[in-house]
Amino acid sequence: MSGFVEKPEPLQVPGLVHLHTGKVRDLYRNEAGDLVMIASDRLSAYDWVLPTEIPDKGRVLTQLSLWWFDKLADLVPHHVLSTELPPGAPADWAGRTLICKSLRMVPVECVARGYLTGSGLVEYDASRTVCGLALPEGLVDGSELPAPIFTPATKAEVGEHDENVSYEEVARQVGAETAAELRQTTLAVYGRARDIARERGIVLADTKFEFGYEDGTLVLADEVLTPDSSRFWPADAWEPGRAQPSFDKQFVRDWLTSSASGWDRRSEQPPPALPAEVVEATSAKYIEAFERLTGTSWS
Ligand SMILES: Nc1ncnc2c1ncn2[C@@H]1O[C@H](COP(=O)(O)OP(=O)(O)OP(=O)(O)O)[C@@H](O)[C@H]1O
Ligand SMILES: [Mg+2]
Repeated sequence: MSGFVEKPEPLQVPGLVHLHTGKVRDLYRNEAGDLVMIASDRLSAYDWVLPTEIPDKGRVLTQLSLWWFDKLADLVPHHVLSTELPPGAPADWAGRTLICKSLRMVPVECVARGYLTGSGLVEYDASRTVCGLALPEGLVDGSELPAPIFTPATKAEVGEHDENVSYEEVARQVGAETAAELRQTTLAVYGRARDIARERGIVLADTKFEFGYEDGTLVLADEVLTPDSSRFWPADAWEPGRAQPSFDKQFVRDWLTSSASGWDRRSEQPPPALPAEVVEATSAKYIEAFERLTGTSWS
């Protein structure tokens, strides 16, 4: 079992048509035909969108994405048109709303990995490959890879796992030219971001981008280089050979899997509400990621 513990109802805002309720973002179309993307405070863990929100999370993700889009603009154009609130939108949308170009999205999760962990580690342990790419012997959980790799995945429905696929499979699905452009851009952006994060004491282990096309031009979409789309590890605690502490959801995962939660991951039951101290600690972690990366204070 997985999905939303409680699926929120879309808000009615004059002039906006509701398109989609994602795990974290709500999408609307405005009268100009642009996409209105609102990052909520929802959090997902263990394939569930939890019933408890994390205050400010959506604003942190939105402001961090904006900061990165600007840092990357010379490498790839991005989808943001403005941060202006649509007339009649609730005040709570301020800081979490982006007006974006409505793109023809490429149905590929463009993942770059500089370090081995997660689904990459599972495949490596079984076959010494990740997405079919051969890797050297002797790598362990958290090892830095000889060079960053493009490890695409197909987009899954809410509650399903994304599935890693080979580069050849992506080329079959979207065409050789698009596949090559996705790989080249993904690795270029990852390389830039990894270097920026490293200067700030953060290891960017891996990250996921989504791209779309606007009249034949590849455009960086969605959110970028946030704790939700990336694995950030504190560099001073990085130690290959064990699971690395994650910047953001660690408190949530630890609590959900502890006896205190009374929840069994393998059961059919949805996860329970989070206690206040887990919510506060998690909110603080998202803010800390923003502050460390951007070097500016959140409030
Ligand atoms: N510029 C854009 N044009 C069209 N769609 C976009 C654009 N930017 C992002 N998207 C889509 O908006 C959605 C963002 O919502 P969210 O991050 O909550 O989704 P998700 O839970 O990751 O995935 P899903 O929406 O499939 O449930 C994604 O489906 C993403 O592909
Ligand atoms: Mg998303």
